Amino acid sequence: MRPFFCCRKSSCISPTTTLGLISFLLLLFIVGCNTPEDPIKCSNKSFDCVITNSYGAFPDRTTCRVAEVMYPTSEDELIVAVAAATKNKRKMKVATRYSHSIPKLVCPDGKDGLLISTKNLNKIHDVDTMARTMTVDSGVTLRQLISEAAKVELALPYSPYWWGLTIGGMLSTGAHGSSLWGKGSAIHDHVLELRIISPGSPEDGFVKIRTLNETEVDFNAAKVSLGVFGVISQVTIKLEPMFKRSITYIAKNDSDLGDQALIFGHQHEFADLTWYPSLKQVMYRIDHRVPLTTKGNGLNDFIPFRPTLSAALAAIRSSEENQESKADAEGKCSGSKLTTSFLRINAFGLSNNGILFTGYPVVGYQNRLQSSGTCLDSLDDALITACPWDSRVKGEFFHQTTFSIEMSKVKAFIQDVQKLVSLQPKSFCGIEQYNGILVRYVKASTAYLGKEEDGLDFDMTYYRAKDPSEPRLFEDIYEEVEQMAMFKYGGLPHWGKNRNLAFEGVINKYKNGEEFIKVKEKFDPQGLFSSEWTDQVLGLKDGLSIVKDGCALEGLCICSQDSHCAPNKGYFCRPGRIYKKARVCTTRNTMY
Ligand SMILES: *[C@@H]1O[C@H](CO)[C@@H](O)[C@H](O)[C@H]1NC(C)=O
Ligand SMILES: *[C@@H]1O[C@H](CO)[C@@H](O)[C@H](O)[C@H]1NC(C)=O
Ligand SMILES: *[C@@H]1O[C@H](CO)[C@@H](O)[C@H](O)[C@H]1NC(C)=O
Repeated sequence: MRPFFCCRKSSCISPTTTLGLISFLLLLFIVGCNTPEDPIKCSNKSFDCVITNSYGAFPDRTTCRVAEVMYPTSEDELIVAVAAATKNKRKMKVATRYSHSIPKLVCPDGKDGLLISTKNLNKIHDVDTMARTMTVDSGVTLRQLISEAAKVELALPYSPYWWGLTIGGMLSTGAHGSSLWGKGSAIHDHVLELRIISPGSPEDGFVKIRTLNETEVDFNAAKVSLGVFGVISQVTIKLEPMFKRSITYIAKNDSDLGDQALIFGHQHEFADLTWYPSLKQVMYRIDHRVPLTTKGNGLNDFIPFRPTLSAALAAIRSSEENQESKADAEGKCSGSKLTTSFLRINAFGLSNNGILFTGYPVVGYQNRLQSSGTCLDSLDDALITACPWDSRVKGEFFHQTTFSIEMSKVKAFIQDVQKLVSLQPKSFCGIEQYNGILVRYVKASTAYLGKEEDGLDFDMTYYRAKDPSEPRLFEDIYEEVEQMAMFKYGGLPHWGKNRNLAFEGVINKYKNGEEFIKVKEKFDPQGLFSSEWTDQVLGLKDGLSIVKDGCALEGLCICSQDSHCAPNKGYFCRPGRIYKKARVCTTRNTMY
């Protein structure tokens, strides 16, 4: 295992500075770390199991119990598993190695549920260097895909930035990178063919194997399927010859962001934005292809995805809890300044040669720059270091509100957020401690549940208390942005992130939503791969909102009465400040 270095003198911030905790976190360029925990735990071999996601909690914090888990190692074993479960009318769900989806997509209903894990379904089958395609099992991770392709000088042109995702998981949830160019940045728009194993009739031996490509009508439904069509077995993906790109981050104030955001994505193929609304700053990522002859062997090892000392994670979390309990907005803003300036000085983890950052532009090969996640590396089992959100250690625990807004509405949305900032200037410091709002370009897709229009995807990460009845600082502002995005601007929630309320009425936002449901019923007439959650999201069942005391604090509902907030802690249900139709949990003091 490659050792992992470290803090350069030039970039070190002393951990003893008063607000050094956060920089301390970021300084820990540690040797190795532990492999993330398996999200599936069984009490009796592969029976009687519990599955969670890699953050250790679903939005509703329920436990998902299943009767059994299977780990097929080949398509043949997968077919046998689906046939047997179909014969017995068992509910099934597909789980992945790390289980990164936040909502409960992975949980089959009932006590008899079967999980089919793709952990061992992780082989590369065919690499066609002439046609520039690669056929892989659905459990192959993005990291594996990128590195295998690079061995034959091929590149996946666009991808998410975190490489711990599987190809099957990325397709099922519509994962994407950032681009408006070509077919855009979603993985599913670069898939040529996929094979899905679904329940079949007794005459078919209880299993149906479909190989879908663009000549099949159902291909566009199956490309982003939320896992309700069956198990994706293999995927053929279109690659490109290896290329180099050049990255430069430029900081600007955000006063003209509403206009700049509309043009920036057309100027640079891999452009994205990191927005710090309280700092009134934006990092523009100028990122595009350069000729292969351009000098440079840059590497992206994004700092927030590096292995981090567990002790530091605990210290940072404690400081965040402390700020929350004291309503210390100033402390959050100091933390924001430290975190963001530290990341900026260190080029967010970019280096020009794999070790040192000496200045922009960072030029390098696509496979070394497109994605990262070294905290997945394993040296030992000791919990010395971890991914910052590893639920086995005291560390990050957050909500992620992620949505895309179509281009024609982006400016107005950004301006509404800026108005909220002008009313509550410190409100976004808490999000900036998680490196602000990541803004990525997404393109309209032919997938039924892909993006309807070209637009911008906004990704907000923010504090979640361990205690679900605990309100958060500037709760009202974040809730207003969330409701504004989803309902005023018709935003499309990321299928693998978000809290329950974001999915309210979501299927009606897709012109092919009805058609998607028809195809689902064709692939799986008994709904063995459907669950209460997927039925609710698809509008087939009520109960998406869980209305109870305190429900709005965790996004399980939109508040309609004070008890949905935390009246005993001074949080009441009130209209939003800019978007009056919003109903948010707010303290009287910050309200008027
Ligand atoms: C373990 O699970 C199997 C299959 O359900 C069952 O037959 C067996 O009795 C279980 N063993 C224990 C100790 O619970
Ligand atoms: C699509 O699939 C069909 C049937 O499997 C095959 O005959 C055809 O060649 C494929 N077309 C493309 C463009 O891959
Ligand atoms: C923001 O930057 C622009 C130039 O890019 C400048 O004209 C403007 O005055 C700046 N606004 C603030 C508030 O600093």
